[in-house]
Amino acid sequence: MLAASLTPRAIVQQLDEYVVGQDEAKRVVAVAVWTHFRKIARSQAKQLPLEKSNVLLIGASGTGKTLLCETLSRILGVPFVTAEATSLAQSRFVNDEIEAIMQRLLDKAGGDADRAGRGIVFIDEIDKLKAAGTDLRAVSGESVQHALLKIMEGAQVRVADGRYVDTTRVLFICGGAFVGLEKILKDTHGYGFIATSNEESRAILARLNSRVKPTDLFAYGLIPEFTGRLPVIARFGDLSKAMLVRIMTEPRNAIYAQFRDLFAAEGVELDVAPRVFEQVAEVALEYKTGARSLRGIFEELMSPVLFELPERKGAKRVAFASLFAEPAWS
Ligand SMILES: Nc1ncnc2c1ncn2[C@@H]1O[C@H](COP(=O)(O)OP(=O)(O)OP(=O)(O)O)[C@@H](O)[C@H]1O
Ligand SMILES: [Mg+2]
Repeated sequence: MLAASLTPRAIVQQLDEYVVGQDEAKRVVAVAVWTHFRKIARSQAKQLPLEKSNVLLIGASGTGKTLLCETLSRILGVPFVTAEATSLAQSRFVNDEIEAIMQRLLDKAGGDADRAGRGIVFIDEIDKLKAAGTDLRAVSGESVQHALLKIMEGAQVRVADGRYVDTTRVLFICGGAFVGLEKILKDTHGYGFIATSNEESRAILARLNSRVKPTDLFAYGLIPEFTGRLPVIARFGDLSKAMLVRIMTEPRNAIYAQFRDLFAAEGVELDVAPRVFEQVAEVALEYKTGARSLRGIFEELMSPVLFELPERKGAKRVAFASLFAEPAWS
Protein backbone atom coordinates (compact mmCIF):
# COMPACT_ATOMS: atom_id res chain seq x y z
CA MET A 1 0.00 0.00 0.00
CA LEU A 2 0.94 3.62 -0.48
CA ALA A 3 2.57 5.19 2.58
CA ALA A 4 0.24 7.66 4.28
CA SER A 5 2.91 10.34 4.07
CA LEU A 6 2.81 10.21 0.28
CA THR A 7 0.23 12.92 -0.28
CA PRO A 8 -0.12 14.47 -3.73
CA ARG A 9 2.03 17.38 -2.56
CA ALA A 10 4.73 15.06 -1.25
CA ILE A 11 4.72 13.15 -4.52
CA VAL A 12 5.16 16.39 -6.50
CA GLN A 13 8.00 17.49 -4.20
CA GLN A 14 9.84 14.25 -4.81
CA LEU A 15 9.23 14.40 -8.55
CA ASP A 16 10.73 17.91 -8.49
CA GLU A 17 14.09 16.46 -7.56
CA TYR A 18 14.38 14.68 -10.90
CA VAL A 19 11.92 16.23 -13.33
CA VAL A 20 12.31 19.90 -14.24
CA GLY A 21 9.18 22.00 -14.78
CA GLN A 22 5.97 20.35 -16.06
CA ASP A 23 4.28 21.49 -12.86
CA GLU A 24 0.75 20.98 -14.08
CA ALA A 25 1.43 17.46 -15.35
CA LYS A 26 3.11 16.56 -12.06
CA ARG A 27 0.09 17.69 -10.07
CA VAL A 28 -2.39 15.88 -12.30
CA VAL A 29 -0.39 12.65 -12.14
CA ALA A 30 0.23 12.91 -8.39
CA VAL A 31 -3.48 13.38 -7.72
CA ALA A 32 -4.38 10.52 -10.05
CA VAL A 33 -1.95 8.14 -8.40
CA TRP A 34 -2.91 9.10 -4.87
CA THR A 35 -6.60 8.75 -5.74
CA HIS A 36 -5.96 5.40 -7.39
CA PHE A 37 -4.37 3.87 -4.32
CA ARG A 38 -7.01 5.40 -2.05
CA LYS A 39 -9.75 3.94 -4.24
CA ILE A 40 -8.16 0.51 -4.05
CA ALA A 41 -8.27 0.67 -0.28
CA ARG A 42 -11.87 1.95 -0.21
CA SER A 43 -13.17 -0.60 -2.69
CA GLN A 44 -11.58 -3.39 -0.68
CA ALA A 45 -13.03 -2.10 2.58
CA LYS A 46 -16.52 -1.69 1.13
CA GLN A 47 -16.36 -4.66 -1.22
CA LEU A 48 -17.30 -2.41 -4.11
CA PRO A 49 -15.91 -2.66 -7.62
CA LEU A 50 -13.01 -0.32 -8.38
CA GLU A 51 -13.68 2.56 -10.78
CA LYS A 52 -10.29 3.18 -12.25
CA SER A 53 -9.06 6.48 -13.66
CA ASN A 54 -6.22 5.62 -15.98
CA VAL A 55 -4.02 8.46 -17.14
CA LEU A 56 -3.01 9.80 -20.55
CA LEU A 57 0.18 11.85 -20.84
CA ILE A 58 0.39 14.12 -23.86
CA GLY A 59 3.53 15.98 -24.81
CA ALA A 60 6.22 16.36 -27.42
CA SER A 61 9.16 13.96 -27.60
CA GLY A 62 11.80 14.41 -24.93
CA THR A 63 9.74 16.54 -22.57
CA GLY A 64 9.87 14.10 -19.66
CA LYS A 65 6.91 11.73 -19.97
CA THR A 66 8.87 8.51 -19.53
CA LEU A 67 11.15 10.15 -16.97
CA LEU A 68 8.15 11.21 -14.89
CA CYS A 69 6.69 7.69 -14.92
CA GLU A 70 9.97 6.05 -13.99
CA THR A 71 10.56 8.52 -11.19
CA LEU A 72 7.02 8.04 -9.98
CA SER A 73 7.36 4.29 -9.70
CA ARG A 74 10.59 4.70 -7.75
CA ILE A 75 8.93 7.10 -5.33
CA LEU A 76 5.91 4.88 -4.86
CA GLY A 77 7.92 1.70 -4.59
CA VAL A 78 5.46 -0.21 -6.75
CA PRO A 79 6.40 -2.51 -9.63
CA PHE A 80 6.51 -0.64 -12.91
CA VAL A 81 6.95 -1.66 -16.53
CA THR A 82 7.01 0.20 -19.83
CA ALA A 83 5.78 -1.03 -23.17
CA GLU A 84 5.42 0.54 -26.57
CA ALA A 85 2.10 0.45 -28.35
CA THR A 86 3.88 0.41 -31.70
CA SER A 87 5.75 -2.78 -30.93
CA LEU A 88 2.48 -4.37 -29.85
CA ALA A 89 1.08 -3.46 -33.24
CA GLN A 90 4.08 -4.94 -35.02
CA SER A 91 3.79 -8.32 -33.40
CA ARG A 92 1.58 -10.98 -34.86
CA PHE A 93 0.18 -12.16 -31.58
CA VAL A 94 -0.70 -9.17 -29.51
CA ASN A 95 -1.93 -11.31 -26.63
CA ASP A 96 1.47 -12.97 -26.33
CA GLU A 97 3.02 -9.54 -26.08
CA ILE A 98 0.57 -8.51 -23.39
CA GLU A 99 1.35 -11.68 -21.46
CA ALA A 100 5.02 -10.80 -21.72
CA ILE A 101 4.37 -7.34 -20.30
CA MET A 102 2.49 -8.79 -17.33
CA GLN A 103 5.26 -11.35 -16.87
CA ARG A 104 7.77 -8.50 -16.61
CA LEU A 105 5.52 -6.79 -14.06
CA LEU A 106 5.42 -10.01 -12.08
CA ASP A 107 9.22 -10.25 -12.22
CA LYS A 108 9.51 -6.65 -11.01
CA ALA A 109 7.25 -7.61 -8.11
CA GLY A 110 9.67 -10.36 -7.18
CA GLY A 111 7.22 -13.03 -8.28
CA ASP A 112 4.52 -11.77 -5.94
CA ALA A 113 1.32 -11.81 -8.05
CA ASP A 114 -0.52 -9.70 -5.50
CA ARG A 115 2.10 -6.96 -5.62
CA ALA A 116 2.19 -7.13 -9.42
CA GLY A 117 -1.56 -6.60 -9.38
CA ARG A 118 -1.02 -3.23 -7.71
CA GLY A 119 1.67 -2.04 -10.10
CA ILE A 120 1.80 0.54 -12.85
CA VAL A 121 2.00 -0.19 -16.58
CA PHE A 122 3.14 2.61 -18.87
CA ILE A 123 2.22 2.22 -22.53
CA ASP A 124 4.05 4.70 -24.70
CA GLU A 125 3.48 5.86 -28.28
CA ILE A 126 -0.24 5.34 -28.06
CA ASP A 127 -0.68 8.00 -30.73
CA LYS A 128 1.15 5.92 -33.33
CA LEU A 129 -1.33 3.07 -33.45
CA LYS A 130 -3.04 4.38 -36.52
CA ALA A 131 0.00 4.46 -38.78
CA ALA A 132 1.20 1.04 -37.69
CA GLY A 133 -0.77 -0.89 -40.28
CA THR A 134 1.90 -1.15 -42.97
CA ASP A 135 2.88 -4.75 -42.28
CA LEU A 136 -0.03 -6.90 -43.44
CA ARG A 137 0.82 -9.74 -41.08
CA ALA A 138 0.83 -7.40 -38.12
CA VAL A 139 -2.29 -6.76 -36.09
CA SER A 140 -4.09 -3.49 -36.66
CA GLY A 141 -3.87 -0.58 -34.28
CA GLU A 142 -7.50 -1.05 -33.50
CA SER A 143 -7.13 -4.64 -32.36
CA VAL A 144 -4.22 -3.53 -30.17
CA GLN A 145 -6.57 -1.05 -28.57
CA HIS A 146 -9.16 -3.75 -28.00
CA ALA A 147 -6.56 -6.01 -26.41
CA LEU A 148 -5.36 -3.16 -24.21
CA LEU A 149 -8.92 -2.26 -23.28
CA LYS A 150 -9.42 -5.71 -21.90
CA ILE A 151 -6.50 -5.52 -19.51
CA MET A 152 -7.22 -1.90 -18.60
CA GLU A 153 -10.72 -2.93 -17.56
CA GLY A 154 -9.35 -5.77 -15.51
CA ALA A 155 -8.57 -9.28 -16.64
CA GLN A 156 -6.80 -12.36 -15.42
CA VAL A 157 -3.70 -12.58 -17.59
CA ARG A 158 -2.02 -15.95 -17.70
CA VAL A 159 1.75 -15.58 -17.72
CA ALA A 160 4.50 -17.95 -18.84
CA ASP A 161 4.79 -19.98 -15.66
CA GLY A 162 1.05 -20.71 -15.68
CA ARG A 163 0.16 -18.27 -12.96
CA TYR A 164 -2.30 -15.40 -13.30
CA VAL A 165 -1.92 -11.68 -12.79
CA ASP A 166 -5.15 -9.82 -12.09
CA THR A 167 -5.07 -6.40 -13.77
CA THR A 168 -8.16 -5.01 -12.05
CA ARG A 169 -6.08 -2.81 -9.75
CA VAL A 170 -3.17 -2.10 -12.07
CA LEU A 171 -2.90 1.59 -12.96
CA PHE A 172 -2.38 2.16 -16.67
CA ILE A 173 -0.63 5.27 -17.88
CA CYS A 174 -0.60 5.86 -21.62
CA GLY A 175 1.69 8.34 -23.33
CA GLY A 176 2.00 9.92 -26.72
CA ALA A 177 3.31 12.97 -28.52
CA PHE A 178 0.08 13.59 -30.46
CA VAL A 179 1.81 15.82 -32.98
CA GLY A 180 -0.55 18.47 -34.31
CA LEU A 181 -2.96 18.31 -31.39
CA GLU A 182 -2.74 22.07 -30.82
CA LYS A 183 -4.18 22.65 -34.27
CA ILE A 184 -7.03 20.21 -33.66
CA LEU A 185 -7.82 21.90 -30.35
CA LYS A 186 -7.92 25.28 -32.03
CA ASP A 187 -10.27 24.04 -34.72
CA THR A 188 -12.70 22.13 -32.56
CA HIS A 189 -12.91 24.18 -29.42
CA GLY A 190 -14.72 27.33 -28.61
CA TYR A 191 -16.69 27.90 -25.51
CA GLY A 192 -16.26 31.55 -26.43
CA PHE A 193 -19.95 31.89 -27.18
CA ILE A 194 -20.61 32.05 -23.47
CA ALA A 195 -20.28 35.80 -23.11
CA THR A 196 -18.52 36.82 -19.97
CA SER A 197 -16.58 39.76 -18.75
CA ASN A 198 -15.89 38.36 -15.35
CA GLU A 199 -12.19 37.62 -14.80
CA GLU A 200 -12.76 34.33 -13.02
CA SER A 201 -15.15 32.84 -15.55
CA ARG A 202 -12.78 33.88 -18.33
CA ALA A 203 -10.07 31.86 -16.66
CA ILE A 204 -12.40 28.88 -16.45
CA LEU A 205 -13.25 29.26 -20.14
CA ALA A 206 -9.57 29.35 -21.03
CA ARG A 207 -9.09 26.11 -19.11
CA LEU A 208 -12.02 24.46 -20.85
CA ASN A 209 -10.70 25.57 -24.21
CA SER A 210 -7.28 24.05 -23.61
CA ARG A 211 -8.81 20.81 -22.36
CA VAL A 212 -8.31 17.81 -24.59
CA LYS A 213 -11.64 16.23 -25.50
CA PRO A 214 -11.92 12.50 -26.29
CA THR A 215 -13.08 13.43 -29.78
CA ASP A 216 -9.82 15.32 -30.39
CA LEU A 217 -8.00 12.02 -30.08
CA PHE A 218 -10.08 10.26 -32.73
CA ALA A 219 -7.93 11.93 -35.37
CA TYR A 220 -5.04 9.76 -34.16
CA GLY A 221 -6.99 6.57 -34.64
CA LEU A 222 -7.95 6.11 -31.02
CA ILE A 223 -11.36 4.49 -30.73
CA PRO A 224 -14.01 6.00 -28.41
CA GLU A 225 -13.95 3.06 -26.00
CA PHE A 226 -10.23 3.52 -25.60
CA THR A 227 -10.22 7.27 -24.96
CA GLY A 228 -13.13 6.66 -22.59
CA ARG A 229 -10.85 4.55 -20.39
CA LEU A 230 -8.36 7.41 -20.07
CA PRO A 231 -10.32 10.06 -18.19
CA VAL A 232 -7.31 11.82 -16.70
CA ILE A 233 -5.19 13.79 -19.16
CA ALA A 234 -1.92 15.49 -18.26
CA ARG A 235 -0.20 17.72 -20.77
CA PHE A 236 3.52 18.28 -20.95
CA GLY A 237 4.67 21.66 -22.23
CA ASP A 238 7.54 22.23 -24.61
CA LEU A 239 10.83 22.87 -22.86
CA SER A 240 12.21 26.40 -22.96
CA LYS A 241 15.89 27.28 -23.15
CA ALA A 242 15.91 28.11 -19.45
CA MET A 243 14.39 24.73 -18.62
CA LEU A 244 16.95 22.92 -20.75
CA VAL A 245 19.71 24.68 -18.80
CA ARG A 246 18.08 23.62 -15.54
CA ILE A 247 17.81 20.02 -16.78
CA MET A 248 21.59 19.90 -17.29
CA THR A 249 22.41 21.40 -13.94
CA GLU A 250 19.67 20.94 -11.33
CA PRO A 251 18.26 17.41 -10.97
CA ARG A 252 19.96 15.07 -8.53
CA ASN A 253 21.44 13.03 -11.34
CA ALA A 254 21.92 15.96 -13.75
CA ILE A 255 24.47 15.42 -16.48
CA TYR A 256 26.75 18.17 -15.11
CA ALA A 257 26.81 16.51 -11.68
CA GLN A 258 27.62 13.17 -13.29
CA PHE A 259 30.61 14.56 -15.14
CA ARG A 260 31.87 16.62 -12.21
CA ASP A 261 31.86 13.42 -10.22
CA LEU A 262 33.73 11.58 -12.94
CA PHE A 263 36.44 14.27 -13.05
CA ALA A 264 36.60 14.54 -9.27
CA ALA A 265 37.40 10.83 -9.09
CA GLU A 266 40.54 11.66 -11.11
CA GLY A 267 41.37 14.58 -8.83
CA VAL A 268 40.29 17.24 -11.33
CA GLU A 269 37.65 19.88 -10.81
CA LEU A 270 35.37 20.37 -13.81
CA ASP A 271 34.06 23.88 -14.25
CA VAL A 272 31.57 24.69 -16.98
CA ALA A 273 30.47 28.32 -17.26
CA PRO A 274 26.72 29.12 -17.31
CA ARG A 275 27.18 30.55 -20.81
CA VAL A 276 28.15 27.08 -22.08
CA PHE A 277 24.92 25.52 -20.82
CA GLU A 278 22.97 28.23 -22.59
CA GLN A 279 24.83 27.51 -25.82
CA VAL A 280 24.19 23.77 -25.48
CA ALA A 281 20.49 24.51 -24.86
CA GLU A 282 20.37 26.68 -27.98
CA VAL A 283 21.76 23.87 -30.11
CA ALA A 284 19.32 21.40 -28.52
CA LEU A 285 16.39 23.71 -29.31
CA GLU A 286 17.41 23.58 -32.96
CA TYR A 287 17.20 19.80 -32.90
CA LYS A 288 13.59 19.92 -31.65
CA THR A 289 13.88 16.71 -29.64
CA GLY A 290 13.24 18.29 -26.27
CA ALA A 291 15.91 17.44 -23.70
CA ARG A 292 16.87 14.30 -25.55
CA SER A 293 19.81 15.81 -27.46
CA LEU A 294 21.37 17.55 -24.45
CA ARG A 295 23.37 14.52 -23.40
CA GLY A 296 24.86 13.99 -26.84
CA ILE A 297 25.93 17.60 -27.24
CA PHE A 298 27.37 17.75 -23.74
CA GLU A 299 29.27 14.47 -24.14
CA GLU A 300 30.73 15.69 -27.41
CA LEU A 301 32.00 18.75 -25.57
CA MET A 302 33.56 16.57 -22.87
CA SER A 303 35.05 13.97 -25.17
CA PRO A 304 38.39 15.71 -26.00
CA VAL A 305 39.13 16.46 -22.34
CA LEU A 306 38.14 12.96 -21.26
CA PHE A 307 40.62 11.68 -23.82
CA GLU A 308 43.40 13.60 -22.14
CA LEU A 309 42.21 13.36 -18.53
CA PRO A 310 44.10 10.22 -17.47
CA GLU A 311 47.36 11.64 -18.89
CA ARG A 312 47.11 15.08 -17.31
CA LYS A 313 48.93 14.17 -14.14
CA GLY A 314 49.00 17.05 -11.71
CA ALA A 315 46.12 18.93 -13.33
CA LYS A 316 43.77 20.38 -10.74
CA ARG A 317 41.09 21.97 -12.85
CA VAL A 318 39.63 22.16 -16.33
CA ALA A 319 37.37 25.05 -17.29
CA PHE A 320 35.00 25.65 -20.19
CA ALA A 321 34.13 29.27 -20.90
CA SER A 322 32.34 28.81 -24.22
CA LEU A 323 31.08 26.02 -26.42
CA PHE A 324 33.39 27.38 -29.13
CA ALA A 325 36.59 27.88 -27.14
CA GLU A 326 39.32 25.46 -26.12
CA PRO A 327 39.01 24.32 -22.50
CA ALA A 328 41.66 25.60 -20.10
CA TRP A 329 43.64 23.19 -17.90
CA SER A 330 45.33 24.39 -14.78
N1 LIG B 1 11.33 17.79 -17.65
C1 LIG B 1 12.51 17.17 -17.61
N2 LIG B 1 13.31 17.24 -16.54
C2 LIG B 1 14.50 16.60 -16.50
N3 LIG B 1 15.00 15.87 -17.52
C3 LIG B 1 14.25 15.77 -18.62
C4 LIG B 1 12.96 16.40 -18.72
N4 LIG B 1 12.46 16.11 -19.94
C5 LIG B 1 13.34 15.34 -20.55
N5 LIG B 1 14.44 15.12 -19.78
C6 LIG B 1 15.63 14.36 -20.18
O1 LIG B 1 15.47 13.93 -21.52
C7 LIG B 1 15.47 12.52 -21.64
C8 LIG B 1 14.29 12.09 -22.49
O2 LIG B 1 13.10 12.33 -21.79
P1 LIG B 1 11.89 11.28 -21.77
O3 LIG B 1 12.39 9.94 -22.12
O4 LIG B 1 11.17 11.43 -20.50
O5 LIG B 1 11.04 11.89 -22.98
P2 LIG B 1 9.59 11.49 -23.45
O6 LIG B 1 8.72 12.69 -23.14
O7 LIG B 1 9.19 10.20 -22.89
O8 LIG B 1 9.80 11.44 -25.02
P3 LIG B 1 9.22 10.42 -26.13
O9 LIG B 1 7.84 10.95 -26.47
O10 LIG B 1 10.16 10.60 -27.28
O11 LIG B 1 9.22 9.07 -25.53
C9 LIG B 1 15.37 11.98 -20.23
O12 LIG B 1 16.21 10.90 -20.04
C10 LIG B 1 15.86 13.14 -19.36
O13 LIG B 1 17.23 13.03 -19.14
MG1 LIG C 1 9.03 8.30 -23.73
